Amino acid sequence: MVHKFKKVSVIGLGYIGLPTAATIASHGAEVIGVDVSETAVNAINQGKAHFSEPDLDMLVRSAVLSKKLRAQTEPEEAEVFIIAVPTPFLEDHSGDLSFVEAAARAIAKVLKPGNLVILESTSPVGTTQKLCRWIAEERSDLRMPDRHPSNPDIHFAYCPERILPGRMVFELVENDRIIGGITEACTDKAEALYGLFVRGVLHRTTAPTAELIKIIENAYRDVNIAFANEISTVCEELDLNAWEAIRLANRHPRVNILNPGPGVGGHCIAIDPWFLISRLPEKTPLMKMARTVNDQKPEEVLAKVRPHIERAQRPIIACLGLAYKPDVDDLRESPALYIVEQLAKENNTDLLVVEPHIEVLPPSIEQYDRVKLSTFDDAMRQANIFLVLVGHKEFSKVDIQEINQYPVVDTIGLWEAWAFKS
Ligand SMILES: NC(=O)c1ccc[n+]([C@@H]2O[C@H](COP(=O)([O-])OP(=O)(O)OC[C@H]3O[C@@H](n4cnc5c(N)ncnc54)[C@H](O)[C@@H]3O)[C@@H](O)[C@H]2O)c1
Repeated sequence: MVHKFKKVSVIGLGYIGLPTAATIASHGAEVIGVDVSETAVNAINQGKAHFSEPDLDMLVRSAVLSKKLRAQTEPEEAEVFIIAVPTPFLEDHSGDLSFVEAAARAIAKVLKPGNLVILESTSPVGTTQKLCRWIAEERSDLRMPDRHPSNPDIHFAYCPERILPGRMVFELVENDRIIGGITEACTDKAEALYGLFVRGVLHRTTAPTAELIKIIENAYRDVNIAFANEISTVCEELDLNAWEAIRLANRHPRVNILNPGPGVGGHCIAIDPWFLISRLPEKTPLMKMARTVNDQKPEEVLAKVRPHIERAQRPIIACLGLAYKPDVDDLRESPALYIVEQLAKENNTDLLVVEPHIEVLPPSIEQYDRVKLSTFDDAMRQANIFLVLVGHKEFSKVDIQEINQYPVVDTIGLWEAWAFKS
C-alpha cells in the first residue's frame, strides 16, 4: 500500500520535535508543530530555533518562510501525529508519562479515521499501548488497533529517536530507525512516513520491542561509561594516568574502553536505564550499579578539587564547561553544572565559569556573587586552579607549560591526553 502524507503534526517542539518537524517540512509535507510553550511557538514562527543546534536555524527558517512549517499551542487536524514530549522520571525512578498522556488527550479531540499516531518520546515498555488506551478513553467512536487489529480507525507505532546533539540535522536523515507498530499494518504505515525523509535503514519490529531497544541502547552506553569512570577512579588511587592506560588498552584489537568523565548527564543516558531498573530491580543489578558509579563521579571530582581550594591563598577556579557534553548548550542533568553548583554553595572560592554556548548563567549559580560567566581567555589569565569539565572544542588550545604551574583537575583528560600526544 502506498501512503502519501500531506499534513503531519509534531507535538512537542524541543530538541527532538523541532528538528523532526523542520526536516519533514523540508521534504515537502505541511507540518503543524504544537507546543505548550508560547516562547517556543513564537520563536519558531519567526523562523528561529529556540535552542542552539548546528544548521537547525537555517532549516527552521527555510521551512517557515516556505510556509511548510508553522507552530501553535493547540493541535489541529492532520494525517499523522508524532509525539516528542518529555519523559522524565518520578521520585521512585519510574517513567513520568504525564506529558505523553496530556499530549494524547489533546490530540484525541482532532483525530479522524485513517490517522497515524507515532510516539518518539523515550518510554517504558508498554507506553504505546497506554497511549492507544488514553486516546480510546477520549474517543469511544474510534476503533483502536489493539482491540480491532484487522480494521482499526487509528494506527499506532513507536519509533525511538537516536540522534546525537550537535549532529541532529544530519543524523535525523542518515541514521537507521527502529519502527514498532501495534500491528503489522501500523508498522507499514509508520515505515511509509519515515521513508519520506530517512536515508538510513528502517528496521521493523513490535511496539514493545522498539520501546525496549531505545532503553537498552542508553543503558549500554551508561554501563560502558561506568566502566571507564571506574578505571579512572582506580587509576587515581594507584597514582597512574587513566588516559594513558585506556589509550594503550585500546590498542588491543577487541577492546574499546570509553573516555571517563565527571559523571553522566543529559536527558537520556542518566534517566532511561531507570525505566527498566525501577520495573525489574532484581533483574538489573549491572544497570543499577552503572547508575550508582556514574552518579558518584561528581562527588569524586569535588573531593579532588577541595584540597586545592584549601591550599590556595585566594583561590580562583576556572570551571571549563557546564553542558552535559561537548559543543552543545544543553545543561539538563549535567554533572558539570552540579559540580559548579556545589562549589558555589560552599562559597570559599571565586568561580570563573566558561560556557561558550550560553549567554547567561543558570539561576542555580547566577545567584552567587562569587560566580561569574567568563570568556575562556579571561579565565585562563585570572584563575589559579583549573577544572576541566566538558570537552568543548574552544578549550583545547592552551599553553600546557603555563597551565601546569597551577593545580589542574582534568575530568575528561582533555589536556592530559593532549599533553601526552605532544
Ligand atoms: N534530546 C535528545 O537528545 C533525545 C534523544 C533521544 C530521545 N529523546 C527523547 O525525546 C523526548 C523529547 O525530548 P527533548 O529532548 O526533545 O525534550 P525537550 O524538553 O527539549 O522538548 C519537549 C517539548 O515538549 C513540550 N511539551 C511538553 N508537554 C507538551 C504537551 N502536552 N503538548 C505539546 N508540547 C508539550 C515542551 O514545552 C518542550 O518544548 C524525551 O522522551 C527524550 O527522552 C531525546
